[in-house]
Amino acid sequence: TMATNAAFPPYEYKEGEEFKGIDVEIAAAIAEYLDMELEIADVEFGSIIGGVQSGKFDMGMAGMTVTEDRLQNVNFSSTYATGVQVVIVKEDGAVQSLDDMEGVKIGVQQDTTGHIYASDTPEKGGYGEDAVIAYKTGADAVQALITDKVQCVIIDNEPAKAFVEANKGLKILDATWVEEEYAIAIAKENTELLEKINGALDAGLEVGVYFYSQAITTEEAIEEANFVMEQVQRYDITFPIVYDWEITEADNARTSNIAPYTVTECAAAFCDT
Ligand code: ARG
Repeated sequence: TMATNAAFPPYEYKEGEEFKGIDVEIAAAIAEYLDMELEIADVEFGSIIGGVQSGKFDMGMAGMTVTEDRLQNVNFSSTYATGVQVVIVKEDGAVQSLDDMEGVKIGVQQDTTGHIYASDTPEKGGYGEDAVIAYKTGADAVQALITDKVQCVIIDNEPAKAFVEANKGLKILDATWVEEEYAIAIAKENTELLEKINGALDAGLEVGVYFYSQAITTEEAIEEANFVMEQVQRYDITFPIVYDWEITEADNARTSNIAPYTVTECAAAFCDT
């Protein structure tokens, strides 16, 4: 069972009753690789670590940042993505730069790193507890921004983009906060699962790295990933086989211009099929 908090697109969200998103896809690929059945429990973000610790859930995967504090309670897998904390504001709102954030109300999702950093003291780069209002989900925090209960929201960059796209009149400030790494939380005792998951992640990430070394576009990566999966299915091979693929001259010739894309995007493309 994977514990998550499915109001965090594109990592995890619900479409009707169905769980979707990058984390869900990666988890499904890991489960398939390990020949295990994936079940998903949608819980409050703040109860994921405790639930993993107590053995209620086998793993926690929720765009979850590796932090020193969390490492006291659980182990983390290898990291599979990076995130950055950003600030969402109203297009014509009171906050137009980081300098405007003194004295305004800041919305966050309860127990996230955005919450933890923002409520820290000003000496430590935060805005103090009184400035911060914590909501159950990131989506709730964004709703509070829309209805002027807060003047900005601090949240991870990819969900921020998804929320801004889905709601008119919002934008992301052109300034980045803390950089973070996402990983899967696993109980400290369960080193067996930790090793298995890391093995599966390595296999998947190799694919991402393979695409990355070609520096092709996301579209091309998806096309390529689909092609790989077709071969995998046709010949009934497991996916680490692509380890052996050689990068040809022609591949290398393509490495010049193109927009970089993340390993996560590749992994997602890879897992899609
Ligand atoms: N990366 C942040 C953290 O670890 C936010 C994660 C929130 N995830 C979620 N599924 N709601 O604290």
